[in-house]
Amino acid sequence: MKVLLTTLGNMVIAIIFAGIFTKSTIAKEIPLPKPYYEGEKSVEEAIKSRRTIRSFSSQVLTLTQLSQILWAADGITADRGYIKLRAAPSAGALYPLDIFIVVGENGVKDIDAGVYHYIPHGHLLKMVRKGDVRVGVAKAALHQMWMAEAPAIMIITGEYKRCTRKYGERGIPYTYIEAGHVGQNIFLQCETLGLGAGIVGAFHNDEVIKVLGIDKRHDPITIMPVGYER
Ligand SMILES: Cc1cc2nc3c(=O)[nH]c(=O)nc-3n(C[C@H](O)[C@H](O)[C@H](O)COP(=O)(O)O)c2cc1C
Repeated sequence: MKVLLTTLGNMVIAIIFAGIFTKSTIAKEIPLPKPYYEGEKSVEEAIKSRRTIRSFSSQVLTLTQLSQILWAADGITADRGYIKLRAAPSAGALYPLDIFIVVGENGVKDIDAGVYHYIPHGHLLKMVRKGDVRVGVAKAALHQMWMAEAPAIMIITGEYKRCTRKYGERGIPYTYIEAGHVGQNIFLQCETLGLGAGIVGAFHNDEVIKVLGIDKRHDPITIMPVGYER
């Protein structure tokens, strides 16, 4: 009888824990609004007006705006059955990049401050860690504190082996080239949304990795704060 009660007790505890775990796992995945394919500004106007912005207002972004920027950066744009192609070109369609988003307190409507990982397959965000780490990112970027004012900061990272596996050492510059394409897409999409973006290459990679709480196989290549220009 005692054994039976202990077993039942353990089962109840296991079910409660499983429930909590499943709930928190689901809560950490955020589906993004569907992207749209027509904008207010022509590509020529966006190219003409694009500038590196270093002064941001605290005006909150919508999840729709963030979704649109992420889709333009690295979203799925074609389904070839055996492979899904993305917004920016990629050597051998190997896609060595990831995008992490630092969301500030009241930075993006409807989501908590934290670090998120953009998942192109499914167009969703996965939370990496909670809390506003913008100041930490700015400090890691040689104290370029202006970026901590932006409601959101994108960090483009590369996992080189996804590309070097096929192309050897050339896979490293190929990854940087792709990050440039993604960065320009972010710039131009921000322009058409009436937003601005900055670009930062001066930072300590290991410090950025630590602040974001990401695995060190994701090497930070570019930091791009986004928001309304002040
Ligand atoms: C690879 C790269 C790294 C950069 N790093 C920084 C940076 O650390 N801080 C900064 O304020 N601007 C940085 N910039 C932005 C340039 O200063 C800026 O693009 C240049 O002054 C031209 O201005 P524009 O982008 O407004 O046309 C960087 C740009 C690139 C392409």
